[in-house]
Formats: sequence, structure tokens, C-alpha cells
Amino acid sequence: MKNATQPVLAVEGISKLYGAGSNRVKALDDVSVTLYPGEVLLIMGPSGSGKTTLLSIMGCILRPTTGNVTVAGKCVSELAESALPDIRRHDLGFVFQAFNLFNTLTAQENVGVVLRLKGAPRRSITARSLALLEQVGLAHRANAYPRDMSGGEKQRTALARALAGDPPILLADEPTANLDSKTGHAVLALLRNLAKETGKAVAIVSHDPKAEAVADRIIEIQDGRLLS
Ligand SMILES: Nc1ncnc2c1ncn2[C@@H]1O[C@H](COP(=O)(O)OP(=O)(O)OP(=O)(O)O)[C@@H](O)[C@H]1O
Ligand SMILES: [Mg+2]
Repeated sequence: MKNATQPVLAVEGISKLYGAGSNRVKALDDVSVTLYPGEVLLIMGPSGSGKTTLLSIMGCILRPTTGNVTVAGKCVSELAESALPDIRRHDLGFVFQAFNLFNTLTAQENVGVVLRLKGAPRRSITARSLALLEQVGLAHRANAYPRDMSGGEKQRTALARALAGDPPILLADEPTANLDSKTGHAVLALLRNLAKETGKAVAIVSHDPKAEAVADRIIEIQDGRLLS
């Protein structure tokens, strides 16, 4: 089935150089990855191998030094910098290890802020942010502040926020780091359900052996190159 559909995201022949002169680091070297609707792709590899760099390029947060990036049919390499925020808002949802929640806002407000940024009508924001929290099993914590939430609750709030705007692609960098085994498992199961029930394309960077169980496909990266 997979080959019958078009990838929703593709990076081709990507390289990434950081720094200059003697500080120059080749973080990625000729990496190509495709991501299809409804699949969970797991990106594994040792620390410093280039996983976050790759996910950031897939998410249009970082530009590759060479190579092409196509997101939802758009050739990102041909677009101006000013067009990238729009692509990030419409096509991509991010879940990062550090959660990036606003500490002075409740779970519901954290989701609501993103809905507002995405241009949702003001009147619909309260109901929609609650519905998103419900989707990740967190409606009962809608009024809690991040400082009063567990790691798993914060991670699920971050996931609800990534789902605001219903992006076709979800990118998660170490989504189970800092979570206990059971909570980590629940977050991974949630990501897999989203792929299978809503057809979202999900890419997860993780060292966690539990992530292997939810993946449809695993790629491994070492010293900036894909192992085949
Ligand atoms: N902003 C940066 N400037 C310079 N070098 C960087 C920068 N970001 C990453 N690097 C280097 O690029 C390489 C790949 O880093 P990256 O963060 O992608 O690895 P990673 O696989 O995500 O590692 P980890 O598992 O520890 O998160 C490393 O050598 C790292 O030191
Ligand atoms: Mg990383």
C-alpha cells in the first residue's frame, strides 16, 4: 500500500555543515529520507550522530547546506525564508523533549495560544483546546499549570499543542526522554494511534527500545550517514 501513495515529506541528498574553519562539523552527509501518510518512522543512532539535525531539516527549522526538502508537495529549498513559518504552521507539528510549554499558562491556555497563532476564530479556542487535550487523555488537567504536571502530562500537553491546526506531519525528538517506562509507553502508543487513525505521518527520534515496537520502519544514522 505504502508505495501506492506519495510521501508527504522527503529529504534528498541532504548534507549539513555547522560552523566555520577548524570548527567545521559535517553533521549530515548525503542523507535521503521519505515519510508516508499513516506511517511511524523511527530514527535511531548514537548521540551526536545527526538525528536532531535531520529532524530539524525535515521540520524546516533548519536549512540543509545541500539537498532538497519537499513538504506536502512544496519544494522547500526553492522557497524564501519568509515562506517557512507558514509551512511550519500548516503542515508540521513538533514535539520536543524539553516540552517548551509556557509556565505561566495552564495546559488549556498553552494549547489555546497555538490555536490563536494559527488563526483559529477566538470564540472557538476554548472548546477546541479542550477537545485537543481530550484527544491526549488530559481534559481533566486542563486548568493545571506545567509546574503542577507530571512529565507525561507535560509531554501530552505538548502533543495536544502539536496537534492544533491538524498538521499532516508530526515530528517528535526524544518524546519519551524524562518519562517513566509506563508513561513513555502511553505517549508512544498515542503517536502510533494518531498515525493509524488519522493518517498522520509520524517521525520519532529515540534511543528508547519501546519506540521500536510502535515503528513501521526504522532507519539508523551514524556519523551523519544513514546505515543501510
Ligand atoms: N548549532 C550547532 N553548531 C555546531 N555544531 C552543532 C550544532 N548542532 C549540532 N552540532 C553538531 O552536529 C552533530 C550532530 O548533532 P545532533 O544534535 O544532530 O545529534 P543527535 O544525534 O541529535 O545527538 P543526541 O542523541 O545527543 O541528541 C554533533 O557533532 C553536534 O555536536
Ligand atoms: Mg538530538
